Amino acid sequence: MTTKTEERVITLLPGQAALLTDFNASLLAAIAGTGGGKTMLGYWWLHSRMEAYPGSTWAMAEPTYKMLDRIILNSSDPGRPSLFEHFQQVGHHPRWIDKTSLIMETDWGKLYLGSADNPDSMQGAAVKGYWLDESGQMKQLAHDTARQRCAMMLGQVLHTTTPYNLGALKTEIWDRRNEPGIHVETWRSVDRPGFPRASYDEERARLPAWRFAMMYDGRFERPAGLVHDSFGPEDIVNDFPIPLQWPIYVGHDFGIANPAALFTAQNPTTGELFYWHEYLPGSGKSPYDHVQAWQQVVKGYNVIAKVGGNHQEQETRDAYTAQGWHIIEPRQRSVTEQVLRVIGQERLHKIKVMRSLRHIIEEKQTFSYKLDERYNPTDKFEEDQSYHLSACERYLHTYFTPETVVRRDGMSRVSISERHESPLRESGVGRVSLDYRR
Ligand SMILES: Nc1ncnc2c1ncn2[C@@H]1O[C@H](COP(=O)(O)OP(=O)(O)O)[C@@H](O)[C@H]1O
Ligand SMILES: [Mg+2]
Repeated sequence: MTTKTEERVITLLPGQAALLTDFNASLLAAIAGTGGGKTMLGYWWLHSRMEAYPGSTWAMAEPTYKMLDRIILNSSDPGRPSLFEHFQQVGHHPRWIDKTSLIMETDWGKLYLGSADNPDSMQGAAVKGYWLDESGQMKQLAHDTARQRCAMMLGQVLHTTTPYNLGALKTEIWDRRNEPGIHVETWRSVDRPGFPRASYDEERARLPAWRFAMMYDGRFERPAGLVHDSFGPEDIVNDFPIPLQWPIYVGHDFGIANPAALFTAQNPTTGELFYWHEYLPGSGKSPYDHVQAWQQVVKGYNVIAKVGGNHQEQETRDAYTAQGWHIIEPRQRSVTEQVLRVIGQERLHKIKVMRSLRHIIEEKQTFSYKLDERYNPTDKFEEDQSYHLSACERYLHTYFTPETVVRRDGMSRVSISERHESPLRESGVGRVSLDYRR
Protein backbone atom coordinates (compact mmCIF):
# COMPACT_ATOMS: atom_id res chain seq x y z
CA MET A 1 0.00 0.00 0.00
CA THR A 2 1.26 3.41 -0.79
CA THR A 3 0.28 6.52 1.04
CA LYS A 4 -0.26 9.48 -1.13
CA THR A 5 1.01 12.71 0.39
CA GLU A 6 -1.04 15.60 -0.66
CA GLU A 7 0.95 18.61 -1.75
CA ARG A 8 -0.44 21.80 -0.33
CA VAL A 9 0.74 25.17 -1.55
CA ILE A 10 0.88 27.81 1.11
CA THR A 11 0.92 31.46 0.29
CA LEU A 12 3.23 33.15 2.71
CA LEU A 13 2.02 36.31 4.38
CA PRO A 14 4.02 39.35 3.27
CA GLY A 15 5.63 39.55 6.72
CA GLN A 16 6.55 35.85 6.70
CA ALA A 17 8.01 36.11 3.19
CA ALA A 18 10.01 39.25 3.98
CA LEU A 19 11.63 37.62 6.99
CA LEU A 20 12.28 34.27 5.33
CA THR A 21 14.08 35.88 2.40
CA ASP A 22 16.26 38.08 4.60
CA PHE A 23 19.51 36.22 5.19
CA ASN A 24 21.46 39.34 6.11
CA ALA A 25 19.87 40.97 9.14
CA SER A 26 21.35 39.65 12.37
CA LEU A 27 17.97 39.96 14.06
CA LEU A 28 14.62 39.04 12.57
CA ALA A 29 11.38 39.56 14.49
CA ALA A 30 7.80 38.63 13.70
CA ILE A 31 5.68 40.55 16.20
CA ALA A 32 2.18 39.49 15.32
CA GLY A 33 -1.21 38.44 16.59
CA THR A 34 -1.84 35.04 18.10
CA GLY A 35 -2.67 32.38 15.52
CA GLY A 36 -1.06 34.59 12.89
CA GLY A 37 1.51 32.04 11.77
CA LYS A 38 4.50 32.91 13.93
CA THR A 39 5.49 29.48 15.17
CA MET A 40 5.01 28.09 11.67
CA LEU A 41 7.36 30.80 10.43
CA GLY A 42 9.92 29.50 12.94
CA TYR A 43 9.64 25.99 11.44
CA TRP A 44 10.12 27.34 7.92
CA TRP A 45 13.00 29.55 9.00
CA LEU A 46 14.82 26.63 10.63
CA HIS A 47 14.17 24.34 7.71
CA SER A 48 15.30 26.86 5.07
CA ARG A 49 18.37 27.97 7.02
CA MET A 50 19.42 24.40 7.74
CA GLU A 51 19.29 23.63 4.03
CA ALA A 52 21.17 26.82 3.19
CA TYR A 53 23.99 26.10 5.67
CA PRO A 54 24.29 22.31 5.83
CA GLY A 55 26.20 20.84 8.74
CA SER A 56 25.64 23.81 11.02
CA THR A 57 24.19 23.74 14.50
CA TRP A 58 20.95 25.48 15.48
CA ALA A 59 18.94 26.23 18.59
CA MET A 60 15.44 27.21 19.57
CA ALA A 61 13.71 27.97 22.86
CA GLU A 62 10.28 28.59 24.33
CA PRO A 63 9.74 30.63 27.52
CA THR A 64 9.03 27.51 29.61
CA TYR A 65 9.50 23.79 29.31
CA LYS A 66 5.74 23.41 29.53
CA MET A 67 5.31 25.54 26.42
CA LEU A 68 8.12 23.75 24.61
CA ASP A 69 6.31 20.50 25.29
CA ARG A 70 2.88 21.79 24.34
CA ILE A 71 3.85 23.82 21.25
CA ILE A 72 6.99 22.29 19.73
CA LEU A 73 7.36 18.70 20.97
CA ASN A 74 3.61 18.21 20.56
CA SER A 75 1.03 20.33 18.85
CA SER A 76 -2.68 20.52 19.46
CA ASP A 77 -3.20 22.40 16.21
CA PRO A 78 -4.01 19.97 13.39
CA GLY A 79 -2.82 22.63 10.96
CA ARG A 80 0.65 22.68 12.47
CA PRO A 81 2.55 19.46 13.25
CA SER A 82 5.16 19.09 15.96
CA LEU A 83 8.60 20.27 14.89
CA PHE A 84 9.79 16.67 14.63
CA GLU A 85 6.87 15.80 12.36
CA HIS A 86 7.54 18.89 10.29
CA PHE A 87 11.09 17.75 9.63
CA GLN A 88 9.76 14.30 8.76
CA GLN A 89 7.24 15.79 6.34
CA VAL A 90 9.86 17.84 4.53
CA GLY A 91 12.20 14.87 4.26
CA HIS A 92 14.93 15.99 6.65
CA HIS A 93 14.91 12.62 8.50
CA PRO A 94 14.93 13.89 12.07
CA ARG A 95 16.06 11.66 14.94
CA TRP A 96 16.63 12.36 18.62
CA ILE A 97 20.28 12.14 19.59
CA ASP A 98 19.27 12.68 23.14
CA LYS A 99 15.62 13.00 23.98
CA THR A 100 16.31 14.01 27.59
CA SER A 101 18.53 16.93 26.77
CA LEU A 102 16.43 17.60 23.64
CA ILE A 103 19.05 17.40 20.93
CA MET A 104 17.74 16.54 17.49
CA GLU A 105 19.72 15.64 14.42
CA THR A 106 18.53 15.90 10.82
CA ASP A 107 20.22 15.31 7.48
CA TRP A 108 21.06 19.00 7.45
CA GLY A 109 22.34 19.66 10.92
CA LYS A 110 21.84 19.51 14.64
CA LEU A 111 19.21 21.36 16.66
CA TYR A 112 19.17 22.11 20.38
CA LEU A 113 15.82 22.75 22.05
CA GLY A 114 15.62 24.66 25.32
CA SER A 115 13.48 26.83 27.54
CA ALA A 116 14.16 30.18 29.13
CA ASP A 117 12.93 28.98 32.54
CA ASN A 118 15.99 26.73 32.59
CA PRO A 119 18.84 29.08 31.57
CA ASP A 120 21.30 26.17 31.44
CA SER A 121 19.29 24.65 28.60
CA MET A 122 19.99 27.76 26.52
CA GLN A 123 23.74 27.81 27.12
CA GLY A 124 26.14 25.89 24.92
CA ALA A 125 28.36 26.05 21.89
CA ALA A 126 28.16 28.56 19.05
CA VAL A 127 25.22 28.15 16.67
CA LYS A 128 24.39 29.47 13.21
CA GLY A 129 20.92 30.58 14.24
CA TYR A 130 18.70 30.83 17.29
CA TRP A 131 14.92 30.94 17.23
CA LEU A 132 13.07 32.31 20.25
CA ASP A 133 9.35 31.59 20.15
CA GLU A 134 7.11 33.82 22.29
CA SER A 135 10.21 35.77 23.24
CA GLY A 136 8.00 38.61 24.51
CA GLN A 137 7.59 36.43 27.61
CA MET A 138 11.33 35.99 28.03
CA LYS A 139 13.69 38.26 29.84
CA GLN A 140 16.52 40.32 28.46
CA LEU A 141 18.91 37.65 29.66
CA ALA A 142 17.42 35.02 27.31
CA HIS A 143 17.54 37.45 24.38
CA ASP A 144 21.19 38.16 25.18
CA THR A 145 22.04 34.46 25.42
CA ALA A 146 20.60 33.79 21.95
CA ARG A 147 22.53 36.70 20.46
CA GLN A 148 25.78 35.68 22.13
CA ARG A 149 25.50 32.10 20.91
CA CYS A 150 25.11 33.32 17.32
CA ALA A 151 27.76 36.01 17.42
CA MET A 152 30.75 33.85 16.58
CA MET A 153 29.15 32.25 13.51
CA LEU A 154 27.65 35.56 12.31
CA GLY A 155 24.34 33.83 12.80
CA GLN A 156 20.82 35.09 12.85
CA VAL A 157 18.36 35.36 15.74
CA LEU A 158 14.66 34.98 14.97
CA HIS A 159 12.01 36.22 17.39
CA THR A 160 8.40 35.14 16.84
CA THR A 161 5.99 36.53 19.40
CA THR A 162 3.01 38.60 20.37
CA PRO A 163 3.80 41.62 22.54
CA TYR A 164 3.24 40.96 26.26
CA ASN A 165 4.65 43.94 28.04
CA LEU A 166 6.94 46.92 27.61
CA GLY A 167 10.14 44.99 28.40
CA ALA A 168 13.11 43.92 26.27
CA LEU A 169 11.09 43.08 23.17
CA LYS A 170 9.87 46.64 22.97
CA THR A 171 12.94 48.57 24.11
CA GLU A 172 15.61 46.50 22.38
CA ILE A 173 13.82 45.38 19.22
CA TRP A 174 10.62 47.25 18.41
CA ASP A 175 11.96 50.69 19.35
CA ARG A 176 15.10 50.00 17.31
CA ARG A 177 13.39 48.49 14.27
CA ASN A 178 14.83 51.09 11.90
CA GLU A 179 18.43 50.41 12.84
CA PRO A 180 20.57 48.40 10.41
CA GLY A 181 20.64 44.67 11.08
CA ILE A 182 17.22 44.66 12.74
CA HIS A 183 14.29 43.51 10.62
CA VAL A 184 10.85 43.60 12.23
CA GLU A 185 7.56 42.63 10.61
CA THR A 186 4.15 42.85 12.22
CA TRP A 187 0.70 41.67 11.26
CA ARG A 188 -2.66 40.95 12.83
CA SER A 189 -4.15 37.55 13.57
CA VAL A 190 -6.85 38.10 10.93
CA ASP A 191 -4.26 38.83 8.27
CA ARG A 192 -3.50 35.11 8.18
CA PRO A 193 -5.65 33.26 5.64
CA GLY A 194 -8.00 30.95 7.48
CA PHE A 195 -7.99 32.81 10.78
CA PRO A 196 -11.63 32.85 11.91
CA ARG A 197 -12.85 36.41 11.67
CA ALA A 198 -15.65 35.65 14.13
CA SER A 199 -13.27 34.84 17.00
CA TYR A 200 -11.29 37.98 16.25
CA ASP A 201 -14.46 40.06 16.65
CA GLU A 202 -15.61 38.14 19.73
CA GLU A 203 -12.27 38.65 21.42
CA ARG A 204 -12.35 42.33 20.62
CA ALA A 205 -15.69 42.63 22.37
CA ARG A 206 -14.56 40.57 25.36
CA LEU A 207 -11.06 41.87 26.12
CA PRO A 208 -9.82 45.20 27.40
CA ALA A 209 -8.52 47.27 24.48
CA TRP A 210 -4.85 47.09 25.54
CA ARG A 211 -5.01 43.33 25.82
CA PHE A 212 -6.72 42.87 22.48
CA ALA A 213 -4.26 45.16 20.71
CA MET A 214 -1.32 43.10 21.95
CA MET A 215 -2.85 39.64 21.53
CA TYR A 216 -4.60 39.98 18.19
CA ASP A 217 -3.14 43.03 16.48
CA GLY A 218 0.47 42.57 17.54
CA ARG A 219 0.65 46.17 18.79
CA PHE A 220 2.41 47.33 21.92
CA GLU A 221 0.19 48.87 24.56
CA ARG A 222 0.71 49.67 28.19
CA PRO A 223 -0.83 46.77 30.10
CA ALA A 224 -3.00 47.36 33.16
CA GLY A 225 -1.58 46.61 36.59
CA LEU A 226 2.10 47.52 36.29
CA VAL A 227 3.54 47.67 39.80
CA HIS A 228 6.12 50.34 39.04
CA ASP A 229 3.79 52.56 37.07
CA SER A 230 5.31 55.82 38.37
CA PHE A 231 8.77 54.85 37.20
CA GLY A 232 9.23 56.52 33.83
CA PRO A 233 11.84 57.55 31.26
CA GLU A 234 12.66 60.65 33.34
CA ASP A 235 14.00 58.32 36.04
CA ILE A 236 16.53 56.68 33.73
CA VAL A 237 19.75 58.69 33.67
CA ASN A 238 22.95 58.51 31.67
CA ASP A 239 25.76 56.74 33.47
CA PHE A 240 28.13 58.91 35.46
CA PRO A 241 30.89 58.11 37.96
CA ILE A 242 29.51 58.12 41.52
CA PRO A 243 31.42 60.64 43.67
CA LEU A 244 33.53 58.83 46.28
CA GLN A 245 31.88 60.62 49.18
CA TRP A 246 28.34 59.48 48.36
CA PRO A 247 27.11 56.76 50.73
CA ILE A 248 26.58 53.34 49.19
CA TYR A 249 23.84 50.81 50.00
CA VAL A 250 23.63 47.30 48.58
CA GLY A 251 20.53 45.11 48.24
CA HIS A 252 20.94 41.33 48.02
CA ASP A 253 18.83 38.44 46.79
CA PHE A 254 20.17 34.94 47.52
CA GLY A 255 19.71 31.64 45.78
CA ILE A 256 22.15 29.27 44.14
CA ALA A 257 20.88 29.70 40.58
CA ASN A 258 20.15 33.41 40.45
CA PRO A 259 21.98 35.39 43.10
CA ALA A 260 21.64 39.13 42.56
CA ALA A 261 22.84 42.39 44.07
CA LEU A 262 21.92 45.98 43.42
CA PHE A 263 24.38 48.77 44.23
CA THR A 264 22.88 52.12 45.13
CA ALA A 265 24.37 55.51 45.93
CA GLN A 266 22.64 58.39 47.61
CA ASN A 267 23.14 61.97 46.55
CA PRO A 268 23.68 63.58 49.97
CA THR A 269 22.30 66.92 48.79
CA THR A 270 19.03 65.82 47.21
CA GLY A 271 18.46 62.45 48.90
CA GLU A 272 17.96 60.84 45.49
CA LEU A 273 19.03 57.21 45.17
CA PHE A 274 21.03 56.23 42.11
CA TYR A 275 21.20 52.56 41.10
CA TRP A 276 24.62 52.32 39.52
CA HIS A 277 25.60 48.65 39.36
CA GLU A 278 23.63 45.43 38.95
CA TYR A 279 25.14 42.06 39.77
CA LEU A 280 23.65 38.96 38.13
CA PRO A 281 26.49 36.46 37.77
CA GLY A 282 24.44 33.30 37.15
CA SER A 283 25.02 30.03 38.95
CA GLY A 284 28.20 28.33 40.11
CA LYS A 285 29.87 30.88 42.41
CA SER A 286 30.63 30.50 46.11
CA PRO A 287 30.03 33.12 48.80
CA TYR A 288 33.75 33.77 48.70
CA ASP A 289 33.63 34.51 44.93
CA HIS A 290 30.67 36.83 45.37
CA VAL A 291 32.26 38.78 48.18
CA GLN A 292 35.47 39.20 46.18
CA ALA A 293 33.45 40.59 43.28
CA TRP A 294 31.39 42.95 45.47
CA GLN A 295 34.43 44.28 47.24
CA GLN A 296 35.89 45.10 43.86
CA VAL A 297 32.76 47.04 42.90
CA VAL A 298 32.75 49.22 46.04
CA LYS A 299 36.50 49.73 46.26
CA GLY A 300 37.21 53.22 47.59
CA TYR A 301 33.56 53.83 48.54
CA ASN A 302 31.88 54.06 51.89
CA VAL A 303 29.30 51.28 52.18
CA ILE A 304 26.71 52.13 54.82
CA ALA A 305 24.51 49.05 54.69
CA LYS A 306 23.95 45.77 52.95
CA VAL A 307 20.43 44.42 53.23
CA GLY A 308 18.83 41.28 51.91
CA GLY A 309 17.30 37.87 52.00
CA ASN A 310 14.03 36.87 53.55
CA HIS A 311 13.50 36.00 57.20
CA GLN A 312 14.33 32.33 56.64
CA GLU A 313 17.71 33.05 55.07
CA GLN A 314 19.76 33.89 58.17
CA GLU A 315 22.16 31.07 57.40
CA THR A 316 23.05 32.64 54.07
CA ARG A 317 23.53 36.03 55.70
CA ASP A 318 25.85 34.35 58.21
CA ALA A 319 27.83 32.77 55.39
CA TYR A 320 28.50 36.21 53.92
CA THR A 321 29.33 37.67 57.30
CA ALA A 322 31.94 34.94 57.66
CA GLN A 323 33.49 36.21 54.43
CA GLY A 324 33.60 39.76 55.77
CA TRP A 325 30.43 41.05 54.08
CA HIS A 326 27.79 41.64 56.71
CA ILE A 327 24.23 41.62 55.37
CA ILE A 328 21.34 42.67 57.59
CA GLU A 329 17.81 41.31 57.51
CA PRO A 330 15.12 43.53 55.96
CA ARG A 331 13.02 45.27 58.60
CA GLN A 332 9.70 44.40 57.00
CA ARG A 333 9.00 40.79 56.14
CA SER A 334 5.98 41.20 53.92
CA VAL A 335 6.75 41.45 50.21
CA THR A 336 3.81 43.81 49.71
CA GLU A 337 5.07 46.12 52.46
CA GLN A 338 8.52 46.09 50.90
CA VAL A 339 7.20 46.82 47.42
CA LEU A 340 5.03 49.67 48.73
CA ARG A 341 8.10 51.40 50.05
CA VAL A 342 9.72 51.25 46.63
CA ILE A 343 6.57 52.58 44.99
CA GLY A 344 6.48 55.44 47.49
CA GLN A 345 9.98 56.51 46.46
CA GLU A 346 9.07 56.16 42.80
CA ARG A 347 6.07 58.43 43.22
CA LEU A 348 8.45 61.08 44.53
CA HIS A 349 10.85 60.30 41.67
CA LYS A 350 13.64 59.75 44.19
CA ILE A 351 14.82 56.59 42.43
CA LYS A 352 17.11 57.07 39.43
CA VAL A 353 18.59 54.20 37.44
CA MET A 354 21.64 54.41 35.24
CA ARG A 355 20.87 53.55 31.65
CA SER A 356 23.35 50.66 31.45
CA LEU A 357 21.44 48.70 34.13
CA ARG A 358 19.23 46.98 31.55
CA HIS A 359 18.00 44.20 33.76
CA ILE A 360 16.62 46.22 36.66
CA ILE A 361 15.07 48.62 34.15
CA GLU A 362 13.42 45.69 32.41
CA GLU A 363 12.15 44.30 35.70
CA LYS A 364 10.62 47.66 36.60
CA GLN A 365 8.98 47.92 33.19
CA THR A 366 7.37 44.49 33.45
CA PHE A 367 6.79 43.60 37.11
CA SER A 368 3.06 43.36 37.52
CA TYR A 369 0.14 42.21 39.57
CA LYS A 370 -1.65 39.04 38.54
CA LEU A 371 -4.84 39.77 36.66
CA ASP A 372 -8.11 38.04 37.34
CA GLU A 373 -10.19 36.48 34.58
CA ARG A 374 -11.63 39.89 33.74
CA TYR A 375 -8.13 41.34 33.39
CA ASN A 376 -8.41 43.38 36.54
CA PRO A 377 -5.36 43.43 38.80
CA THR A 378 -5.42 41.26 41.93
CA ASP A 379 -3.34 41.58 45.12
CA LYS A 380 -0.85 38.97 44.01
CA PHE A 381 2.33 39.62 42.11
CA GLU A 382 2.98 37.83 38.85
CA GLU A 383 6.04 35.52 39.16
CA ASP A 384 7.71 37.66 41.78
CA GLN A 385 10.22 34.89 42.45
CA SER A 386 11.88 35.50 39.09
CA TYR A 387 12.41 39.23 39.67
CA HIS A 388 15.74 38.98 41.41
CA LEU A 389 16.93 42.57 41.13
CA SER A 390 13.50 43.82 42.19
CA ALA A 391 13.90 41.65 45.28
CA CYS A 392 17.24 43.33 46.01
CA GLU A 393 15.54 46.67 45.57
CA ARG A 394 12.60 46.02 47.88
CA TYR A 395 14.85 44.52 50.58
CA LEU A 396 17.08 47.56 50.38
CA HIS A 397 14.23 50.02 50.71
CA THR A 398 13.19 48.57 54.07
CA TYR A 399 16.36 50.20 55.35
CA PHE A 400 15.20 53.72 54.59
CA THR A 401 12.51 55.42 56.64
CA PRO A 402 9.78 56.35 54.20
CA GLU A 403 8.90 60.02 53.86
CA THR A 404 5.46 59.20 52.59
CA VAL A 405 3.09 56.47 53.49
CA VAL A 406 1.61 54.99 50.38
CA ARG A 407 -1.78 53.41 50.49
CA ARG A 408 -2.81 50.64 48.19
CA ASP A 409 -6.04 52.39 47.21
CA GLY A 410 -6.18 53.73 43.73
CA MET A 411 -3.01 52.06 42.63
CA SER A 412 -3.06 50.58 39.22
CA ARG A 413 -1.71 47.07 38.99
CA VAL A 414 -0.94 44.37 36.45
CA SER A 415 -0.01 41.11 35.02
CA ILE A 416 -0.31 38.95 32.02
CA SER A 417 -1.93 35.59 31.95
CA GLU A 418 -0.41 32.73 30.07
CA ARG A 419 -3.14 32.29 27.46
CA HIS A 420 -1.52 32.94 24.15
CA GLU A 421 -2.21 30.08 21.79
CA SER A 422 -5.17 30.52 19.54
CA PRO A 423 -8.10 28.16 19.59
CA LEU A 424 -7.59 27.55 15.89
CA ARG A 425 -8.57 24.25 14.42
CA GLU A 426 -7.85 23.87 10.79
CA SER A 427 -7.81 21.03 8.36
CA GLY A 428 -4.53 19.19 8.11
CA VAL A 429 -1.54 20.33 6.19
CA GLY A 430 -0.05 17.66 3.98
CA ARG A 431 3.32 18.21 2.52
CA VAL A 432 4.58 21.75 2.53
CA SER A 433 6.84 22.82 -0.29
CA LEU A 434 9.00 25.78 0.23
CA ASP A 435 11.71 27.25 -1.85
CA TYR A 436 13.15 30.53 -0.85
CA ARG A 437 16.78 29.71 -0.61
CA ARG A 438 19.20 32.26 -1.88
N1 LIG B 1 0.76 31.75 5.43
C1 LIG B 1 -0.11 30.91 5.94
N2 LIG B 1 -1.20 30.52 5.24
C2 LIG B 1 -2.11 29.67 5.76
N3 LIG B 1 -2.02 29.12 6.97
C3 LIG B 1 -0.95 29.46 7.74
C4 LIG B 1 0.04 30.35 7.26
N4 LIG B 1 0.99 30.49 8.22
C5 LIG B 1 0.59 29.72 9.25
N5 LIG B 1 -0.56 29.09 8.98
C6 LIG B 1 -1.35 28.20 9.85
O1 LIG B 1 -1.94 28.99 10.86
C7 LIG B 1 -2.05 28.24 12.06
C8 LIG B 1 -1.46 29.03 13.21
O2 LIG B 1 -0.08 29.13 13.00
P1 LIG B 1 0.97 29.26 14.19
O3 LIG B 1 2.29 29.41 13.56
O4 LIG B 1 0.80 28.17 15.17
O5 LIG B 1 0.44 30.63 14.81
P2 LIG B 1 1.05 31.51 16.01
O6 LIG B 1 2.33 30.89 16.40
O7 LIG B 1 1.20 32.86 15.42
O8 LIG B 1 0.01 31.47 17.08
C9 LIG B 1 -1.34 26.93 11.83
O9 LIG B 1 -2.30 25.94 11.59
C10 LIG B 1 -0.49 27.20 10.59
O10 LIG B 1 -0.30 26.03 9.83
MG1 LIG C 1 2.90 30.19 18.32
